[in-house]
Amino acid sequence: MAHISRPLQARRAAGPLRGTVRVPGDKSISHRALMFAGLAVGETRIEGLLEGEDVLCTAAAMGALGAEVIRDAPGRWRVAGRGIGGLVEPDGVLDMGNSGTAARLLCGILASHDLFAVMTGDASLRRRPMRRVTEPLAACGARFQSRAGGRLPLAIQGARDALPLEYTLPVASAQVKSALLLAGLNAPGWTRITEPEPTRDHSENMLRHFGAEVLVESHAQGRLVSLLGQPELVAADVMVPGDPSSAAFPLVAALLVQGSCVTVQGVGLNPLRTGLFTTLREMGANLVVTNERLEGGEPVGDVTATYNGLRGTDVPPDRAPSMIDEYPILAVAAACATGVTRMRGLRELRVKESDRLSATAALLTINGARVEIEGDNLIVHGGNQVPAGGGLVETHMDHRIAMSALVLGLASERPVRVDDSAFIDTSFPGFAALMLGLGADLS
Ligand code: S3P
Repeated sequence: MAHISRPLQARRAAGPLRGTVRVPGDKSISHRALMFAGLAVGETRIEGLLEGEDVLCTAAAMGALGAEVIRDAPGRWRVAGRGIGGLVEPDGVLDMGNSGTAARLLCGILASHDLFAVMTGDASLRRRPMRRVTEPLAACGARFQSRAGGRLPLAIQGARDALPLEYTLPVASAQVKSALLLAGLNAPGWTRITEPEPTRDHSENMLRHFGAEVLVESHAQGRLVSLLGQPELVAADVMVPGDPSSAAFPLVAALLVQGSCVTVQGVGLNPLRTGLFTTLREMGANLVVTNERLEGGEPVGDVTATYNGLRGTDVPPDRAPSMIDEYPILAVAAACATGVTRMRGLRELRVKESDRLSATAALLTINGARVEIEGDNLIVHGGNQVPAGGGLVETHMDHRIAMSALVLGLASERPVRVDDSAFIDTSFPGFAALMLGLGADLS
């Protein structure tokens, strides 16, 4: 279907932002819940599933592979799994839309299933590198054929008798780690993956939740994750926490609009996801977490942001994996802060839904902020005044660029427009309504 662009404009709110809200379910956990449930024996109930377009692609793909996927009510889903090795050949092309996570994790699952599948995605996903998963996955016996540069569409012939993998990740990527672990589910013996920096561990947590044996050890070379293959995954109910990467937008908006106070309830607080909150606190943000609890094995809490002015900071490269999706919104906060913010080690941003390093710099520059890219670093010069605004931001099919630009528009002198807000639905359906409810001016 032809894409219909939805331009949107944000202007400085007439008053402070106030309210208590919930954001949609965590995207990473939602994808994994559907996939692991599809590989388990029995029926898994999922509560709080993100119904964004990315996750709906995963739901459709697991259905095409033979799992029974049922939506009972908003956020409440049931999946009857096929058991490891039990997926069936899909009779059509698997369309993963805008989602790198869906595409890469599914490559892992398919690599150790003896079936043929073809995978594609939208124009953004078709530009993104897939060799980072297909190359190591080939070692288990799977065969991949792709377009030049290892891009989608991709044809996959999964291994008949997959071998376990032993691999050291060249880049810190939870998607690559998870793809290899998923392939290891249907290979005998131990799959061993070493990651140079710890990345989000939702796969490890959820694999254990479904009954797999996963060991984690710290070594000089990094973190070694080992999975014992061919376990019987058993259906296990999943509660999906609110996505901290989505909560970031209303919370940062509250930090930038004078007098604001916003609470987001039920936010996932896995320490491998909370680098943004650490950084904002270093910038002087008034962020308070209450009601901390464990839900479905993941830490969750209510986060309140109260406006009190921000100052620049230095964000070290080893923090990047814990806030990899939050740099665009952090850069917006930095542009409204006093002093300089240096964000270092952002190479991976080049291969997100857009080249996010360039797109973030462009979104700020066009709105009057001073920004430099030096190698893999982004440097934002805050001033004593908020950025002028007035720019039309190109979102490049990237939901987080769109939402970051709109948050900037709530604080800048003049309105900020985005060329297309439609991709926000990939991760945060209801974003505009939620922000309007807090008092934002979006039109
Ligand atoms: C994700 C991992 C991250 C992140 C993406 C979701 C995941 O990507 O950017 O939005 O669910 O594993 P990388 O692991 O490739 O950095």
